[in-house]
Amino acid sequence: MKSLQISSFKEYKEKYAQSVENPEEFWSEIASQFRWHKKWDKVLDWDFSKPEIKWFEGAKLNITENCLDRHLEKLANKTAIIWEPNDPDEESRHITYRQLFVKVSHFANVLKNNGIKKGDKVCLYMPMIPELAIAMLACARIGAVHSIVFAGFSSKALASRINDSECKLLITANEVYRGKKPINLKAVCDEALKHAPSIKNVIVYRRTVEPTSMVEGRDTFWFDELQKVDKHCDAEIMDAEDLLFILYTSGSTGKPKGMVHTIGGYMVGSTYTFSNVFQYDKNDIYWCTADIGWITGHSYIIYGPLCAGATTVMFEGVPSYPDYGRFWEIVDKLKVTHFYTAPTAIRALARHPLSLVEKHDLSSLKVLGSVGEPINEEAWHWYNDNIGKTKCPIVDTWWQTETGAMMISPIAGITPTRPTFATLPLPGVQPVLIDEKGNEIPFENAPSEGRLAIKAPWPSIARTIYGNHQRYKDTYFSAFPNMYFTGDGAYRDATGNFRITGRVDDVVIVSGHNLGTAPIENAIDEHEAIVECAVVGFPHDIKGNALYAFVTTYDNIEQPEDELRQEINDLITKTVGAIAKLDKIQFVSGLPKTRSGKIMRRILRKIASNDTSNLGDISTLLNPDIVENIKKSAL
Ligand code: WT7
Repeated sequence: MKSLQISSFKEYKEKYAQSVENPEEFWSEIASQFRWHKKWDKVLDWDFSKPEIKWFEGAKLNITENCLDRHLEKLANKTAIIWEPNDPDEESRHITYRQLFVKVSHFANVLKNNGIKKGDKVCLYMPMIPELAIAMLACARIGAVHSIVFAGFSSKALASRINDSECKLLITANEVYRGKKPINLKAVCDEALKHAPSIKNVIVYRRTVEPTSMVEGRDTFWFDELQKVDKHCDAEIMDAEDLLFILYTSGSTGKPKGMVHTIGGYMVGSTYTFSNVFQYDKNDIYWCTADIGWITGHSYIIYGPLCAGATTVMFEGVPSYPDYGRFWEIVDKLKVTHFYTAPTAIRALARHPLSLVEKHDLSSLKVLGSVGEPINEEAWHWYNDNIGKTKCPIVDTWWQTETGAMMISPIAGITPTRPTFATLPLPGVQPVLIDEKGNEIPFENAPSEGRLAIKAPWPSIARTIYGNHQRYKDTYFSAFPNMYFTGDGAYRDATGNFRITGRVDDVVIVSGHNLGTAPIENAIDEHEAIVECAVVGFPHDIKGNALYAFVTTYDNIEQPEDELRQEINDLITKTVGAIAKLDKIQFVSGLPKTRSGKIMRRILRKIASNDTSNLGDISTLLNPDIVENIKKSAL
């Protein structure tokens, strides 16, 4: 939305100042750009000690009227979604705003016909196909709450998420292809449903022609369901603080947390940040490579872009199929202007020959984005040089499932970028650094490093953990009084730019010294032979704990391992200090990762401690096979 966009650095500074001095005025001006049935009585009401946070109380709206109906006047024939299939020989689908509006309304009636009412929970376990977008928006249209579970999770993980929020309906697909491998989603659902009694019905989208086992009286096909209902569905009028969705995120311990997002604030936050950070212009083609099963997909494939009237690309496949040039082929084919991906994908792609990039015309690109973890210097430059051809600003966007929307990020072409820095807070976001004693570090002390907390609420903050408000309070609001604690560490330079240094919960005490593993990993990553690494602690007779690194190197490295080990430790001594030197360095072919690309340090910690009898559930990993390999060659 052009009307939301900041257009100069000077304006950014003014807006930022306004957002801190008078947040209610600032956010009500932004919120006024959306469609409401009734405006709010109060912009913001909050108390972090409870914690209780309410935005736009008293307002009435439906988010799908902002994603769809509102665009029918001027953008009806504009493409809302371009879907790119796994197999490059299959045809793409282009869905206009009008078509999407009809499809969502039609499917909303299917939900109603299955007994789903306002407030009911619906679980979506689906591949990256337009029907996932349609199903989530159909839920929002009738006021049902969607809980999307990433379609790579195991039946156990699916069942526990269904049970936690007592979903009534499950929507899935029979099968999906990601890369060469077919995945039978329906079979996973059938297994999960043996242990998830709250589900009364299952609606199955037929993605492939393979025969599908259906349970009589419980399961029906998407297409058959559509035949039973008509295509018109008025939007349910909702309160701004009604639930929009629940999305599970893993905690450092214990069961996953069902983060609850509510309608009004989330809509305003996701759309405002989308419009600003990417500086989306009306004919742009925007592509975020995340899966909709993660918050990035919720906020920046669906809600933010559609509320802003953008064209958003959905990709069903993987970056490596049919070859490692697939992303660049799609950019070329669709003339993508905005490309938003994760550092782990960038590092994986950078390992392959540049010819896979150079074959394709990337001149349509205007803005590049990064999200999910700190982007190391080398990956940043590879992305900047080879993909952006040094002409595209890189927006390194720091945020979390809990924050709902981007918090610290450059605004493309408006605020300065700096390699490895998420840079400045977006308007409305008040980050602070906290020292070991729990005190706020004054800005005047810059450069400084500490734990990252946020001082005041922003519209898209998660309001609770579903069914467990106490855990919400304990996790985010108990570390420092009257602040939201992010769990991350950060460094701030003299101009106020933030660099996220990694989770601070990954701390190892070595000889009485409190060592964060993130800065050690950053030091190792500086070595030109290293692709990525993970550092964990293991018990040590003298030091209490010592450090163990798992390291991957580029394929063409022929240097002897012991020489590499020496150089890595020299680097660490130089950048972090001799205290952080590694006792063990194991070269591995890959690191165990979650589906969202986060390294599973829990498993590495066990291997390093020679305690591999019970590694826990590794079925949800992206690459479970790697664990056996690492175990075999453990030092
Ligand atoms: C954690 C949140 C935000 C959507 C995807 C992940 C890390 C995220 C960055 C970034 C450094 C980042 C943080 C954060 N993180 N973006 N640009 N630079 N670190 O959502 O799964 O809830 O994870 O991801 O550690 O706390 P999530």
